[in-house]
Amino acid sequence: MHATTQSDPVDNYTPKAIEHFLNPRNIGEMTPEECSGFALVEDDDCGDQMMLWIRVEGERIEDIRFKSFGCPGAIATCSMATDLAKGKTIQAALDLTDDDVIDALGGIPDQKRHCSLLGIRAIHLAIHDLLMRRLIQESGNGE
Ligand code: FES
Repeated sequence: MHATTQSDPVDNYTPKAIEHFLNPRNIGEMTPEECSGFALVEDDDCGDQMMLWIRVEGERIEDIRFKSFGCPGAIATCSMATDLAKGKTIQAALDLTDDDVIDALGGIPDQKRHCSLLGIRAIHLAIHDLLMRRLIQESGNGE
């Protein structure tokens, strides 16, 4: 059995990841009126969840909010992922990968790499939700 010491968790994260965990950016939610796209994602293995809202005007993500029911790695990586996506075009946000998030944090412990997928998956799915809403609106079935 692994003996935990007080310094274990902090030692494994970069200062930037710790800072994003302690002060996550873009925390919150949006009303249906504010929101252009929404996603709820879950990690199949650990069960951690992420809810994420985007507000898009034209092709640009003007605002983004998330709520995490996850570990420190999930919170830090989702905070950074939302920072990277905010202000980008939807295509540029779709091109973001979990490696971009990990690089921006200066790395992440190997056993927490999977946590970085939650935020990126949520952003991509919220954009898909946006595109589906637009399609429905365009087809005239959204009334
Ligand atoms: Fe579940 Fe990190 S342990 S997302």
